[in-house]
Amino acid sequence: MKKDFLCLSDWSKADLDQLFALTGDLKARQKRGEPHRLLEGKTLAMIFEKNSTRTRVSFEVGMHQLGGHALFLHSGTTQMGRGEPVRDTGRVMARYCDGIMIRTYSQQAVEELAKWSDAPVINGLTDLYHPCQLMADIFTVIEHKGGYRGLTFAWIGDGNNMANSWINAAAVLGFRLRIATPEGYRPDSDVVARAEQLGADLSFTSDPLEAADGADVLSTDVWASMGQEEEAEKRRRAFAGFQLDRRVLDAAAKDAIVLHCLPAHRGEEISDEVIESPQSVVFDEAENRLHAQKAIMATLMG
Ligand code: CP
Ligand code: NVA
Repeated sequence: MKKDFLCLSDWSKADLDQLFALTGDLKARQKRGEPHRLLEGKTLAMIFEKNSTRTRVSFEVGMHQLGGHALFLHSGTTQMGRGEPVRDTGRVMARYCDGIMIRTYSQQAVEELAKWSDAPVINGLTDLYHPCQLMADIFTVIEHKGGYRGLTFAWIGDGNNMANSWINAAAVLGFRLRIATPEGYRPDSDVVARAEQLGADLSFTSDPLEAADGADVLSTDVWASMGQEEEAEKRRRAFAGFQLDRRVLDAAAKDAIVLHCLPAHRGEEISDEVIESPQSVVFDEAENRLHAQKAIMATLMG
C-alpha cells in the first residue's frame, strides 16, 4: 500500500528513526560525491499555493540528485486555480507522476488529495503542519547533540504550524517539549489533545524564560505566517516580549542550540544577535531540508 507523508503522528518512532538514518546516509553519499540515483526516471509534481524558497529548491534539487525529475506547478496556473476538484487532480496527477508534494492552506485538502492519488503525497506545509521541516530540524539536533533522547526542547512564539508539528514530534519520539506562547496564540487544541493521549511530555506557559530554562534546543518562527499578513501589526503587539533574544538564550543550557525554519524576521521573533550567534544552527537546518526530504522521497517513491 502506498504511504503518504502528511503528518508526523501518522508515522511510528521506528519509521522516523529509519528516515533519520537514511538522511545521514544520503547526506554522506552526497558529500563524498557518490551517486545515489535511487529514483532514476521518476517524477515528482510540486504544487505550490503559497510562496517558498527552501521547500521548492530542496525538493527540486533533491529529485535531481536522486536521478529523477521535479515539476514546479504554481496552483494559480493550473486548473486547480480555476476550481478543478482536488479528487480529480489527485487521480490525474498520479497517472503521470510517481509522487506529489503540495504546499497549501488546508490540511484537509492535502488529505483529500492523498485519498484520491495512487501516488504518495508529501505535505510541504499547510496552515496546520510542516512535517518535512521537523524531519530536518530533528536531524540537525541529532547531528549537533548526538541524538534527541533525554533532551528538553523549547518553542518560543506562535502556536502555529511549526509548533503543532513540534508537538507531534514530541508525541512520537518521546522528548520533553515546553511551549511559550501569548494567551490566545496557543497551538491547535486537537493536536495537543491527541499528543497528550499518546503520552506526550508537554508543558505550556506564557513566560519565554520559564520555557527556555535549562533547555537544550530553542526554536521559534515568524509571528505572522503565510496567509496572516493582515494580522501582522496586531500580532507584533501580542508577541511583544516573546523575542528569542540574548535573555532567552542565557536562560537555556550553556550549550543550547537555536533553530528557526526560516525565513526569519530579525528584530521580531528572533534577535539578529541570536540568529548570528555560534549557537545558531539555522543554516545547517536549512541544508538538512534537502537531505531529509531525499530520504522521505526515496522511502515513499523508491
Ligand atoms: N522553511 C521553509 O519551509 O522555507 P520556505 O518557505 O522558503 O520553503
Ligand atoms: N509558519 C510559517 C513557516 C514558513 C516556512 C508559515 O506558515 O508561513
